[in-house]
Amino acid sequence: MTLDEILAEATTAMNVVTTIPDLEQAKARFLGKTGSLTEQLKAMAKLPPEEKKAAGAAINVVKTQVEVLINGAKARILDAELQAKLAAESIDVTLPGRRIGSGGLHPVTRTQERIEALFASMGFSVADGPEIEDDYFNFQALNTPENHPARSMQDTFYIEGSKNLLRTQTSPVQIRHMQSHKPPIRIICPGRVYRCDHDATHSPMFHQVEGLWVEEGISLADLKGTLTQFLNAFFERDDMQIRFRPSYFPFVEPGVEVDMEWGKVKDSKGGKIKWLEIGGAGVVHPQVLRNGGIDPEKYSGFAFGMGLDRLAMLKYGVNDLRLFFENDLKFLSQFR
Ligand code: DAH
Repeated sequence: MTLDEILAEATTAMNVVTTIPDLEQAKARFLGKTGSLTEQLKAMAKLPPEEKKAAGAAINVVKTQVEVLINGAKARILDAELQAKLAAESIDVTLPGRRIGSGGLHPVTRTQERIEALFASMGFSVADGPEIEDDYFNFQALNTPENHPARSMQDTFYIEGSKNLLRTQTSPVQIRHMQSHKPPIRIICPGRVYRCDHDATHSPMFHQVEGLWVEEGISLADLKGTLTQFLNAFFERDDMQIRFRPSYFPFVEPGVEVDMEWGKVKDSKGGKIKWLEIGGAGVVHPQVLRNGGIDPEKYSGFAFGMGLDRLAMLKYGVNDLRLFFENDLKFLSQFR
């Protein structure tokens, strides 16, 4: 190859390369160990001395030109790469800004607030108590002394080395409130309770709403009226039916389990009511009133305890309690 041919070839090669690795390869073809210009330099060694100088000068001229071509190509490639990178990272200032996602209340919180509002409209106020309770308020004052069989109805989390426990029910708030208030008393106490239990319908932490109405002449009929009115309002109905089944809770006498009507099940006569348990209730036991500092000869009252999460599940059509407490935003954001 003549020097002119080498220069022509280098010109073409450097015009078409588009990446640095391609450039390096092309460069080697001219300036590498066996590159065409290198070969020229090697051949020059065999020339007679008087020709060497001119030949060397001519080769160096072409070598410089090839190097200029290479540097030019390199600058062109780097510039193109930079432009591509800038284009990829460019910010379109005409795009609308990213919005901050709006939060929302947890469905259980929503349910609790709704229950509070509905009971408030019936003259109830909201009372509160500690979640770490002591044995006296959670059990003894509620007519459940140590070794009482009713204690085994609830799997309690005891706190080691102390008389304290995680409250298993919201009922202790009844005692706390009675001890610090005089009748008439009309309260609800929504809140977290804890039991050693875990499956699709039980979580070790769940929510209850306790109710207590103590006044002269209060009876089970008032309980029925109050709960019926509440459920109608809560489920936005006007024909809600409830049913009491005799039951046992140490702190009420008589005690009942409360069922509410929830659809119909088919039978031969065209359908009968399907009942769903929503809580326990009863007429406050005289001893519990006494423990609260209230004279049972003068006052009477009713109490109830409902599953708050249960009400939330029914209201929103959720069939697994655990969904409420897994904190999966895909689930929770549906309630925003
Ligand atoms: N505390 C009871 C429980 O967790 C529920 C209950 C039953 C509450 C009867 C009451 C009541 O106030 O009168 O199982």
